[in-house]
Amino acid sequence: MVASNKASQKIAIFASGSGSNAETIIQHFSRVPHIEVALVVSNKSDAYVLERANKHELPALVISKEDLSTEAFIHGLKSKGINLVVLAGFLLKIPVPFIQAFPNSIVNIHPSLLPKYGGPGMYGRRVHQAVFNAYEKESGMTIHLVNEHYDEGRILFQAKVELDHRDTPDKIAEKVLVLEHTHYPTVIADLLNERSAD
Ligand code: GAR
Repeated sequence: MVASNKASQKIAIFASGSGSNAETIIQHFSRVPHIEVALVVSNKSDAYVLERANKHELPALVISKEDLSTEAFIHGLKSKGINLVVLAGFLLKIPVPFIQAFPNSIVNIHPSLLPKYGGPGMYGRRVHQAVFNAYEKESGMTIHLVNEHYDEGRILFQAKVELDHRDTPDKIAEKVLVLEHTHYPTVIADLLNERSAD
């Protein structure tokens, strides 16, 4: 085996719920050299994402809302060498000190075509219900950098899916989740690869 001097990039995934995106990302990077999911963080002690982390033998941490702003938490992530924070269904607002500690290094996925159906209170099923109520002919997902305003950071990638009149909010959620699982790992990989090339 040839030794490589390319430094490894480390991802922390933050999730509040099921964690299907988190698991897709974990599986993807388990096959990629130099990029590693090093930690899973949740604000809910009963979130299913923690079981998924356990299954993949990954370190996991349960935090409170207050922890997110503390020097100790931020320092802990830095000392583990975390280069990128990936939000995957993480429902707490990321506080300013945390954003400043990870400039342009926090990404989020949102289950609509932002700027439509974004902002405070718009998450998960609520988004799909609003899309359904508006008789939208298409929906999709957005991957964006995180800034201090909900769902307003620079958009990195969007993908669309057509809807038809038979699509219930649950069916819309299912269609959008397929897009999320297809694209989130590769958008993360592209971002990290661009940075390591700089
Ligand atoms: C995903 O659809 C994600 O886009 C959404 O939560 C779901 C998490 O699913 N995020 C938001 O609504 C954030 N505003 P998962 O836990 O199965 O990955």
